[in-house]
Amino acid sequence: MAAIPSIKLNTGALIPAIGLGGGPDDFTPEGIAGSEKWLRTAFETGYRHIDTAWMYGTEPAVGAAFRASGLHRKEVFVTTKLPWHHQKYVERSFNDSLSRLGLDYVDLYLMHWPQALEYPTGYDLPSTPEEIFGGFQVAETPTFNDTWAEFERLHASGKARAIGVSNFSIKTLEQLSKTAKIVPAVNQVEMHPYFADTELLEYCRSKGIVVTAYSPTGHAKVRSDPTLVALAKKYNVTPTQIILAWHLARGVVAVPKSSNAGRQKENLTLPTLSAEDLAAVTALDRKERCDVWIKFGPDGKMLGWTREQYGW
Ligand SMILES: NC(=O)c1ccc[n+]([C@@H]2O[C@H](COP(=O)([O-])OP(=O)(O)OC[C@H]3O[C@@H](n4cnc5c(N)ncnc54)[C@H](OP(=O)(O)O)[C@@H]3O)[C@@H](O)[C@H]2O)c1
Repeated sequence: MAAIPSIKLNTGALIPAIGLGGGPDDFTPEGIAGSEKWLRTAFETGYRHIDTAWMYGTEPAVGAAFRASGLHRKEVFVTTKLPWHHQKYVERSFNDSLSRLGLDYVDLYLMHWPQALEYPTGYDLPSTPEEIFGGFQVAETPTFNDTWAEFERLHASGKARAIGVSNFSIKTLEQLSKTAKIVPAVNQVEMHPYFADTELLEYCRSKGIVVTAYSPTGHAKVRSDPTLVALAKKYNVTPTQIILAWHLARGVVAVPKSSNAGRQKENLTLPTLSAEDLAAVTALDRKERCDVWIKFGPDGKMLGWTREQYGW
C-alpha cells in the first residue's frame, strides 16, 4: 500500500490527495451534531485534510474536532465553501465560516456553485428542504465573475490561503477566465468511474487547476460494479479502495465521506494499480452523475440553472 501523496496547488501549497468529506450523515440537527464524533476519529485515523461547507452545517464540528486532535494548525488542510445564496455577502459569509470553524484562516475557500440564488430570507437559509431547493429566485447579479473578484480580495487578505470553485465546467471556467486575475487553485466536481470527465480533468490540468472529486466513490451503485469487484479481489482490497487508487493515479484529490472509523481507515490505505487496470476503471465511464442532489426538474433546471448554463 502506497503512502497518500500530496498535490501542489498553483499557490505552492500542498493538499493531501485524500481528504475526508465533511457532509453530515443527514441534514437533521442530530445528524449535523453527530458529525463531531466521526470527525474526531478521522483525525485520529490520520486524515489531515477535511472538506466542509457553510451548507453542510459541519463547520463547528470540524473546528471542535480539530481542537480536540491536538494537531498544529499547519498540519491540517481545511476547505470550506461559499453557499449559493451568499454571492453578494462574500466577506460576511467567509468571516462567519471562520468563526464557526474557530480558525483564523482556511487553506482553501471554494465558490460552492456558479449561480447566485436569492431567498426571501436574505442571508439566512429558509427552514425546510422544499424552500431551500424550490423557494429561490436566480439573481442576475452578482455574476460568478463578480463573486470571484471578492474571492481575490479575500485571498489578498491572507485569510483564504487558496481560492477555487466547485461545480464549474470548461464553459464556466472559460467565462471566469475572462475577468479573473487569479486562476482557481481547485475545481471540485463530481467524479468517479461512471463519471470520469476526462475532458474537464485534462482542461483543468492544462490551466494548473487541481481537480477534487466529490462523491468520489460514486456511492453503492458504482462500488458494486462487477469490474471493480473483480479488481478488488485481484488486489485483495475493496472496490472503494480501487476507485480511490484510480483517483490518485489520475492526479485527482478525492474527499470520500465516511462516519465509520474502519471505512475511514480503509479509504486511506490504497493499492497501486497497474496501467492496464487503471485503464479498465477509466473505461467504465458512462457520463452518469450519481450525486443524490443533482436532479433536473421538468423545467430542465437544477438549482435554477439549465444544463446549458452549467456547461454540462
Ligand atoms: N462541492 C459539492 O457540490 C459537493 C457535492 C457533494 C459532495 N461534496 C463533498 O464530497 C464528500 C463526499 O461525497 P458523498 O458523500 O456524496 O460521496 P462518497 O464519499 O463517494 O460516498 C459516501 C457514502 O459512501 C459510504 N462509504 C464511504 N467509504 C466507504 C467504503 N470504504 N466502503 C463502503 N462504503 C463507503 C459512506 O457511508 P459511511 O459513512 O457509513 O461509511 C457514505 O454513505 C462530501 O462529504 C462533501 O465533502 C461536495
